[in-house]
Amino acid sequence: MIAPRRSAVPLLLSLLALATSAHGDDPLRYFCGTKGNFTANGTYGDNLKALLTSVVAAATADGGGFYNLSVGGGSPDAVNAIALCRGDVGAADCRSCLNDSAAEIARQCPMQKEAIIYYDKCMLRYSNRSIFGVVEISPYWHVWNVNKITNNVDQFNQVLRNLMDGLRDRAASGNSTRKFAVGNATAPNFQTLFGLVQCTEDLTWLQCDNCLVNAIGKIPCCDQTIGRRYLTPSCNIRFQVSPFFDTSAYESPPSPPESPVSPPPTPTNNPSTKGKDTNSGRIALIITIPAVGLSLLVAGILCICLRSRRLKKNFENEIRNAESLQFDLNIIREATNDFSDANKVGQGGFGVVYKGTLANGQVIAVKRPSVDLGQGNQEFKNEVLLVARLQHRNLVRLLGFCLEERERLLIYEFVPNSSLDHFLYDPVRRSQLGWQRRQKIIGGIARGLLYLHEDSQLRIIHRDLKAGNILLDAEMNPKISDFGTARLFAVDQTQDATSRVVGTYGYMAPEYAMHGLFSVKSDVFSFGVLLLEIISGQKSSRFCNGNTTEGLLSYAYRSLREGTPSDLIDPNLAGGSRTEMLRCIHVGLLCVQEIEADRPTMGAVVLMLSSYSTTLPLPSRPAFILPKKSKNQGTRLLSPSYILNDHRLESIFV
Ligand SMILES: *[C@@H]1O[C@H](CO)[C@@H](O)[C@H](O)[C@H]1NC(C)=O
Ligand SMILES: *[C@@H]1O[C@H](CO)[C@@H](O)[C@H](O)[C@H]1NC(C)=O
Ligand SMILES: *[C@@H]1O[C@H](CO)[C@@H](O)[C@H](O)[C@H]1NC(C)=O
Ligand SMILES: *[C@@H]1O[C@H](CO)[C@@H](O)[C@H](O)[C@H]1NC(C)=O
Ligand SMILES: *[C@@H]1O[C@H](CO)[C@@H](O)[C@H](O)[C@H]1NC(C)=O
Ligand SMILES: *[C@@H]1O[C@H](CO)[C@@H](O)[C@H](O)[C@H]1NC(C)=O
Ligand SMILES: *[C@@H]1O[C@H](CO)[C@@H](O)[C@H](O)[C@H]1NC(C)=O
Repeated sequence: MIAPRRSAVPLLLSLLALATSAHGDDPLRYFCGTKGNFTANGTYGDNLKALLTSVVAAATADGGGFYNLSVGGGSPDAVNAIALCRGDVGAADCRSCLNDSAAEIARQCPMQKEAIIYYDKCMLRYSNRSIFGVVEISPYWHVWNVNKITNNVDQFNQVLRNLMDGLRDRAASGNSTRKFAVGNATAPNFQTLFGLVQCTEDLTWLQCDNCLVNAIGKIPCCDQTIGRRYLTPSCNIRFQVSPFFDTSAYESPPSPPESPVSPPPTPTNNPSTKGKDTNSGRIALIITIPAVGLSLLVAGILCICLRSRRLKKNFENEIRNAESLQFDLNIIREATNDFSDANKVGQGGFGVVYKGTLANGQVIAVKRPSVDLGQGNQEFKNEVLLVARLQHRNLVRLLGFCLEERERLLIYEFVPNSSLDHFLYDPVRRSQLGWQRRQKIIGGIARGLLYLHEDSQLRIIHRDLKAGNILLDAEMNPKISDFGTARLFAVDQTQDATSRVVGTYGYMAPEYAMHGLFSVKSDVFSFGVLLLEIISGQKSSRFCNGNTTEGLLSYAYRSLREGTPSDLIDPNLAGGSRTEMLRCIHVGLLCVQEIEADRPTMGAVVLMLSSYSTTLPLPSRPAFILPKKSKNQGTRLLSPSYILNDHRLESIFV
């Protein structure tokens, strides 16, 4: 998950909770701001009153369910409001819910400059700050059912996680007019699990996705509750083992006429449908007030302990199950048509990759290393086990290995759309990558890398991040490949300095290229280069701009300094948001700064990419290296004044 940072989204953390739990169509919760009051009979109050009236009027005029309005724009007394109805709620209910919200918030927070109110069917908030297109995850309201599932907990959690991740994808991507998705999945014990996720519609794909990642991440790792709800100003999620939304909200195929759903075999006090579960006396509440930090901490520690216990157990199981990851050589031979050239799909780092189809129809990618693996069989197995445990939707999954005769093969999931470089550097296919897609790719890579760096059990430094190592699945979701090679291929893992530089020119951080020193910050550097490539549609090592010989990084830096960063943007991106692209360029430049310590961590990068309100520091000059091959040293460092006029040098920065 995203590590909390001090410089993060300005949160409404100091808002105070005043309301109590309610019933019927009463508010679930409201929070009145504590940052300032307006004066009675002043302009702000008038603007606010007008604004609340217009929200209700807008909801009456248009059943869209999302409203962002402002009154007094430009003046110091400007008020902004966002209202959102639950995606499955009809126009009449939406209007009446917002009408209630407007009246109730004015009653409960009569003088405060900002406030938010959550109802079961809608949410309304206003502030004197600019709140459009900004992800805010606080103040949140969290509620869960105290009934727990008792068996098949792991499977239940797996189904839950898959359901919520799938809904997140659907809500965040594609349909930009409505960021809402509902769905169901079959959980163990014949239960049906129902899920709902929604973002306010002013958010971009990436912002919505991040907001939901945060919210879904709040479902405890060892959850056993049968229902949970988490509401934040920018997005909300909910799941439950009984239906709670209008089933006509299922997108496709059109839902059948409402059929009675057999009540799941839950313990007593099953939360009732249509969101009235707050009546239940058996529901625990958490309110975001600073004092709650402690209980969260305690819960967190408890969770971590339980989790590490479970992980340990899993790991032991895995060691025992080592053999289950082992594939028989004959099976792989059959699957790849005996490693036929026709099945060869690539020449990745360290070897050749073949596509194969197992007897059960599963498509796999088989990597056959061309280098000496330099480690014993047991070591190899252990490393495969470790890398196979790294599972994230933005990482290519390692399915197993084969260790027979002289072969040491790695079996991966097959990712159909080849790699990012096939699109990015191809003048025709590049046009298939519009801004939304590129944004999604950038966000996915950032999260995959963050997982490798911070969230997985092992700290993995990729060391060869580049467009060719980003595979794209059928929905063009990015998956990082070739991670963990340092472990699998025993490349000097004991030291931080490696005698053999494994990276690729154009992406290597100067400290790595020159001294073989690697750290998470060298990956951040490569990520920055990749980000600038994705935006410019140009390969950093072949960058050309008119007849100058300036490199991509240097050009990007100069453009930003001279206030013309738009020049860098791929003309194919004409339809996208300039502001977002410029922000990406800015983040990219922060990543490629010469001094490692100045580069942000991936955690910070993920935040910067999702929160358009954080002010970014100005980047210092990027590294300027001329990677000239020589016997002992990979590259040579040049000061920017040594700009050479030689295209033949694979020069990245000069
Ligand atoms: C704003 O007004 C409320 C009462 O309506 C009061 O409790 C609060 O202290 C005031 N806040 C500030 C910052 O003046
Ligand atoms: C909103 O109001 C608060 C309290 O009066 C003030 O400190 C803050 O600067 C205002 N924000 C904006 C963007 O005007
Ligand atoms: C606001 O206006 C009302 C009448 O319109 C008046 O009675 C009241 O005293 C005013 N309040 C302030 C604080 O000026
Ligand atoms: C809106 O709320 C007011 C009371 O605050 C009520 O009189 C009115 O009928 C409501 N209108 C709708 C459309 O629900
Ligand atoms: C977005 O969702 C709305 C409501 O579900 C639907 O009417 C609209 O056709 C969808 N738009 C796209 C582009 O899928
Ligand atoms: C589950 O979702 C599908 C649509 O994805 C829908 O057709 C089906 O009726 C749902 N099942 C239940 C029990 O609601
Ligand atoms: C409301 O959001 C839409 C995009 O979701 C935007 O085009 C519009 O300008 C926003 N309205 C205001 C008042 O900012």
